[in-house]
Order: sequence, then C-alpha cells, then structure tokens
Amino acid sequence: MSSFESVFGDSPEFVARAPGRVNLLGEHTDYNGGYVLPIAIEQQTSVSMSHSNSKQYALYSEMLDDIVYFTLGKSPTEHFATYVYGCLMEARAVGMKVPVLDIYIQSDVPMGAGLSSSAALEVATLRVLRALTGFPLDDVQIAQLAQRAEIQYAGVRCGIMDQMASSLAGTREALLLDTLTLERRLVPLPPASAVLVLDSGVVRTLATSGYNQRRTECEEAAHQLGVQSLREVHDISLADALPEPLGRRVRHIVSENARVLRAAECNNAAEFGMLMNASHTSLRDDYEVSVPQLDQLVTLLQAHPDVYGARLTGAGFGGACVALCKPESLHQISEAVLQDYSSMGLKGRILVPPHWVDRTATVGGGSAS
Ligand code: GLA
Repeated sequence: MSSFESVFGDSPEFVARAPGRVNLLGEHTDYNGGYVLPIAIEQQTSVSMSHSNSKQYALYSEMLDDIVYFTLGKSPTEHFATYVYGCLMEARAVGMKVPVLDIYIQSDVPMGAGLSSSAALEVATLRVLRALTGFPLDDVQIAQLAQRAEIQYAGVRCGIMDQMASSLAGTREALLLDTLTLERRLVPLPPASAVLVLDSGVVRTLATSGYNQRRTECEEAAHQLGVQSLREVHDISLADALPEPLGRRVRHIVSENARVLRAAECNNAAEFGMLMNASHTSLRDDYEVSVPQLDQLVTLLQAHPDVYGARLTGAGFGGACVALCKPESLHQISEAVLQDYSSMGLKGRILVPPHWVDRTATVGGGSAS
C-alpha cells in the first residue's frame, strides 16, 4: 500500500476530505434550475498536498496507481487528472496564487457508479488548496468552482447538485437544494427508514454524450416554451404542445420537481418511497436514461416487502439504484435482491452502507453485460 510519504518522501503539509453523495430524488433537474434532494455517503476522497521545488505538478492516484506530471496551461490527458487540473485552473482564475505542488489522492468513493466520485475529488482538492493558501472561499464558492472545473476541463455540462452535496451535505440528513437560488435546508430521512445503494454492474458508457444531449433537449424545450429554464414550467400539459422527445423531457422535469418538494415535506417513508418509484418510471419512460439492467434491479427492489421505494440514481445510463428501506432489513434485502439479480446472469454489489461492501463478494455470480 502506498502513501504520500512513500511517493513523495515526506509527510504532506495539508490534507482535506470530501464525501460522495447519493441523490434520493430530483434527477436531471439541477441543470434546469430545479430542486434536488441528495445526501452525503460515508465514503470519502482525501487529497494531500505539499509545496514542491519542481517545475511540474506531480499528481498520484492511489486507486489507479498512476502518477501524472503537468504544468498549468497544458491540461493532462489522463481523465482523473483533469478534475484536479480543472480545480487548480479555476482557483487561479479567481485570484488564488497556486504554487507548484505534489498531490496525492486516495478514495473509497466507488468510481463510475453515480455516487459523485468526481465531485468528491474536486471538493477535496479545493478544500486543501484553501487550507494551503489561506485564500478565502466559502463552501458554496467551493462547490461553484468545482462545478466550473468539471464543465470546463472534464467536458460534462453538469449541474451543481453533486458539488453542493459534497461540499455541504451530511450523511444523516438530505440537502434540499433549490439549484436556481442555491437556497437550501437539511431534511431528515423519514422515521424508520434507511438508504441502500446497489450497483447494477453496468458501466455508464453513454453518460457523457447522453447527458449532454439531454441538457441540450431541455434548453431547446425551454426555448420553444418561451422560458429561461424548465423550472418556470408548472403546468405539465404545456408539454403536449412540444414535439417528441421534448414533450417527454418536460414531463419528467416538471413532475420530478413536484416530487422533490412533496418528499421534503412528507416525513413518511411509504409516501417518500412511492415518490421514488414514480421518479424511476419517469426517468425510464419520459427521460429515457435507464437501461434494462437498472430496470431489473429497481423492479426487484420495489417488489421486496421491506423496501418503501427504489429508483436509479445519478445520471443513469448504468450505475446504481437507491432504495429507501426498513433499517433492520438492509442486509436481508440486499442479499435477496442481489441473489435474484445474479440468477438473471447479472452481477450487482452493495455500495451503501459501506461496511457491508465486503459481503457482496459472496453474493451473485454472473457477469454484468
Ligand atoms: C450527474 C450530474 C449532476 C446531475 C445528475 C443527474 O450526477 O453531475 O449535476 O445533473 O447527473 O441528476
């Protein structure tokens, strides 16, 4: 096992951490000025830094066992490095004097599963830069710089949910965020409920292109409806006047915003769960970001008597499902559901709660397609 010391020969001067997140409700609403309800997960990314005497930045990823060298002004080509590079560039753009650094990344946030490993990396990077330089940045500014870094340098025209969740959410209460005004408040999970996240095993290959395409469709729909963003649309019947698929996209956004606001008020696990189920149907049929394997896993979860509701989480096109469950049954639910999933020739695994991750090694056997 490597460490900052083993790679760079000394202890790091500064270390900061940031968590991944799972979104409970409010999918694809954030780039439409809508509402989201993510919660932080226990898995975190840690970024360590020290000043360097070299002319080049050195960036080591423990998970990838890869070291990348770069200078500011010439972006590295390695994907993981573009997130850090983007943060350094965005920090510099707002006036931070960024010295040459040795940087070490360690993370147990699952990558490519829809749990915002990239936002965790960005927020942790900006937090440690803030500590190292003393440059004043509040947690919202950190989220905003992180989002810009992702858009400009990683090529995903993402909204601000993931970065706000990583920067401001806790693991016990969800963050109800209005992505237009950035007004927010913490919302406890309904009584007698707990969050389970299962990975479908399907790598999100289409995510970037499909994601950017959805965003363009929403912009076109807003344009045709004569509004700045789909957040301004409340009457779902307005979607009927649009050509397809734009009408379907609008139906999802309008109904999803309403579901988030309802869920944040309901304080009832059964009702919250029904809203999650409805969200999945809408993401599958109207927004068209599900894949058959996610639908299978969601159907199995929804059919379990101790599951209140389940849906795909994150951008879709693969990745993970989130379920709201009876807390005492989390382990039983995941074993039963993953067993059934594996009998279909698919291999899933538990992502949250993290202390059960190891148990999945014995569950399931088929290979993901
Ligand atoms: C990704 C993006 C977010 C959000 C979700 C979908 O996670 O980074 O901004 O749009 O997809 O809800």
